Amino acid sequence: MTHPARPHWLRRPDRAAAGLAYGADYNPEQWPREVWRDDVRLMREAGVDIVSLGIFSWARLQPAEDTWRFDWLDEIMGLLHEHGIAVDLATATASPPPWLTSKHPEILPVNARGETIWPGGRQHWRPTSPVFRRYALHLVETLAGRYADHPALAAWHVSNELGCHNVYDYSDDAARAFRDWLRARYSTIAALNEAWGTAFWSQEYGDWAQVLPPRLAATHPNPGQQLDFKRFSSDALREHLRAERDILRRYTPDVPVTTNFMVMGGTKGMDFAAWAADVDFVANDHYSEPGPQARDELSFSANLTGNIAGGRPWFLMEHATSAVNWQPVNVAKKPGELARDSLTHVAHGADAVCFFQWRQSAAGAEKYHSAMLPHAGADSDVFRSVARLGATLRELAPVAGATREPAPAAVLFHWDSWWAAEADSHPTDRLRYRQEALDWYTAFLNLGIRADVVPLGTPLDGYRLVVAPILHVVSEPVAKTLQGYVESGGHLVTTYFSGIVDERDHVWLGGHPGALRDLLGIRVEEFAPLLDTETVTLDNGLRAVLWSERVRVTDQDAAVLARYADGEQAGHPAITRRAVGGGSAAYVSTRLGAAGLTAVLGGLAAAAELESDLPPAVRGKVESAVRRQEGARFAFLINRSEQPVTVAGVPGEPLVGSRGPDGAVTLEPRGVAVLRQT
Ligand code: GAL
Repeated sequence: MTHPARPHWLRRPDRAAAGLAYGADYNPEQWPREVWRDDVRLMREAGVDIVSLGIFSWARLQPAEDTWRFDWLDEIMGLLHEHGIAVDLATATASPPPWLTSKHPEILPVNARGETIWPGGRQHWRPTSPVFRRYALHLVETLAGRYADHPALAAWHVSNELGCHNVYDYSDDAARAFRDWLRARYSTIAALNEAWGTAFWSQEYGDWAQVLPPRLAATHPNPGQQLDFKRFSSDALREHLRAERDILRRYTPDVPVTTNFMVMGGTKGMDFAAWAADVDFVANDHYSEPGPQARDELSFSANLTGNIAGGRPWFLMEHATSAVNWQPVNVAKKPGELARDSLTHVAHGADAVCFFQWRQSAAGAEKYHSAMLPHAGADSDVFRSVARLGATLRELAPVAGATREPAPAAVLFHWDSWWAAEADSHPTDRLRYRQEALDWYTAFLNLGIRADVVPLGTPLDGYRLVVAPILHVVSEPVAKTLQGYVESGGHLVTTYFSGIVDERDHVWLGGHPGALRDLLGIRVEEFAPLLDTETVTLDNGLRAVLWSERVRVTDQDAAVLARYADGEQAGHPAITRRAVGGGSAAYVSTRLGAAGLTAVLGGLAAAAELESDLPPAVRGKVESAVRRQEGARFAFLINRSEQPVTVAGVPGEPLVGSRGPDGAVTLEPRGVAVLRQT
């Protein structure tokens, strides 16, 4: 049987799109066989057409070193296929079985204190262990050989959330691999010493063998060593991904390989912008944390994922139908949130909407995590919402394959800056890179101006305005790119603690923000971070926290847009903007939070002649995102508020939502409309 619902866009991007895929992680090994038939029946009822299978099945597939059990997987693959459900088959290497860790405890990770991370949870393996790699690749090869020609196989799913629990391993294996990585980067020990500034605190190395991961130290470990260890740790997992992928590609060159990223959320250890080159399509998992910006954060994550995917469609591999089980308090989703969250991902390019997991577990650590089919069964609000979403996704079939329409503005995101800016031994340990970036994004949403969240390195020429929050690490080429962007008419906005160090984490000398000083036309001699108890006011009435500094304007084309009104910097510039030909370079020297940034960005956007494409009455209440493909443009309108919103004057035929007698589109609280515009 063919797969009417197989995600063709994943497998053969050249073929016509066949609709959005819908599904979940499916863990049939947690259930007796009788349940499986019920599962596939209800999956069809809900519109599910793809599942990720085998993610944590290593112990079931290989119960002992020389024993393999495929009967159950054969059976379930067959059953799914019979019902037209495609399989994203996991390589099952995420969680090594007890026989393996008993036989080879040397695969277990070690933390910075030298403590072993024992089995009992999951992902207890060292990314750099040659022993683990050997066993894992043997499993991958065995699975690939067995299922290469299986008609249900739609994609390969490498491991699971690589680095979720084991990104930082300080073991001897890690030390060896770290040295190899450093040798490849620096060639000589002298170059390493120079890069890490080891003249400080008597840290000069005489030989590679002396170099270690930044294990528990008497005080702040060397910052260069810490930053490189972060880069190395991300690369070590990437190498594991590539090792599995290469085997899969050898067996099934026509089956795409992916792994589920965790763009945003709590994890910052993996530079997923770099990883995107290693997969055939980008897949992402997203879980919201409750809070006032939860919805915006979801959009931010989806937006960045879409741009990491180069604007092409991507696969939402996991999110939750309702509560998770791993936050301090696990909040259930409110009516409408399940669909709104899913469709926000679709708005930003997801061509597949999947959940963790299909059937809620009765036992194990995730038994209180929501699922498509909850403990209560199919007669439940969650299942009804799930089935409704399945129907909505079918309505949205024409969207499949559409790429993101670039926005007129962008927020830059840079993992190196995230890692380096939040390091210890800094002016303040309160700085939060991701939060600052998110606040700028919220400011764009508040103004109703579409903005892309893009990884550093994305060409900027199409953007009228680019915000680079806390762009802490600026290499010479990056400084040149930003200068070129501004000189050719772009409007750059950057913030405190940007342009401070180069890629080795060495301070650009001569006054801050060294790498961007001339471009911004300012000079700062000293940072003046604020205590938690301190706030300062600007002369435009905005309140600022966390950071201040004595900004001096050094260029006649740089205007002061706001000054500090009180505190130590009273009377001195807080926000500046230097005109450069048709472009400009603006600087915000303190932390204003989302509301303050909305006011500041409003002015900067107006000066850059950047406008919202939403009617004035709904700006801030509605998020808009656009996808397009030949002959069609799809405008997504997402209600950010808890009130109904009426949007008038937006053209297009509703695929989701409807128009009232007056032609306006009414969005329910948390509602979404999708308009097809040609
Ligand atoms: C992800 C993971 C899933 C499940 C989920 C729960 O991190 O990939 O297996 O644990 O979280 O939210």
